[in-house]
Amino acid sequence: MNISSAIFDCSAPDRDSYPDESLPEFALIGRSNVGKSSLLNLLAGEQNMARVSSTPGFTKLINIFTMNKCWRLVDLPGYGFAQIAREHKARFNKASADYLAHRTNLCLVFALIESGLAPQKIDLEFVEWLVRHSVPFVLVFTKTDKVTAATVQTNIAAFTDRVSAWFEKLPVVFTCSAKTGQGRQELLGVIDEQLTAINAESNRAVVPAEDLVPQTSIRENRKRRPDLNRPW
Ligand code: GTP
Ligand code: MG
Repeated sequence: MNISSAIFDCSAPDRDSYPDESLPEFALIGRSNVGKSSLLNLLAGEQNMARVSSTPGFTKLINIFTMNKCWRLVDLPGYGFAQIAREHKARFNKASADYLAHRTNLCLVFALIESGLAPQKIDLEFVEWLVRHSVPFVLVFTKTDKVTAATVQTNIAAFTDRVSAWFEKLPVVFTCSAKTGQGRQELLGVIDEQLTAINAESNRAVVPAEDLVPQTSIRENRKRRPDLNRPW
């Protein structure tokens, strides 16, 4: 997929300031500093769309961008940095939790994990939270340029091993590097696949005359989200 237009939509502190739910959304989340904003820029093909910083916890608002005028990328505040987050059971930003649990046009979450690290408790807890809340997601191991391919594979195997009990079928795994561009096409490919499925679904819902199928909303689509990682 080519990105021909990437436009900053808004910075939303909470649910009241989100744009309407007319466009499918794909959200990036992960520990502070894992590379969410960098990956968003890589996917958008724009170096400076989302602000990147070496200071953990930099992105504090939900930043929303419209791609090709027909779908959105969402940069969510990370977890595991703010002191206050440790006091909450979910241990991550309330605005992010709210978005993930309730946004009806959310198609797929990219759950980012740093590829150079052995499984971290907070990432495991977060994945468990996604599962408990039935949020459709894939795992994306970031910063692959920083370590050897063997280390990346070892850490991916260790992580998927730790979460495997929660799934009949393991979540789909991707790797990426915002520095080298590795993984960009694969991730855009997943988005393309999802958009094609949504379009096919709404075309099917519009055509029939007598035996009218009710128009499929993105929310319904989300509930029936196919086989990326949802065996249940
Ligand atoms: P917060 O908004 O603070 O939660 O961070 P974030 O997850 O958005 O991370 P961000 O994209 O701001 O990147 C954090 C730091 O990691 C920056 O110094 C980036 O330059 C660096 N970084 C991000 N992605 C990569 C990568 O793929 N490779 C390398 N080597 N560095 C990266
Ligand atoms: Mg950020």
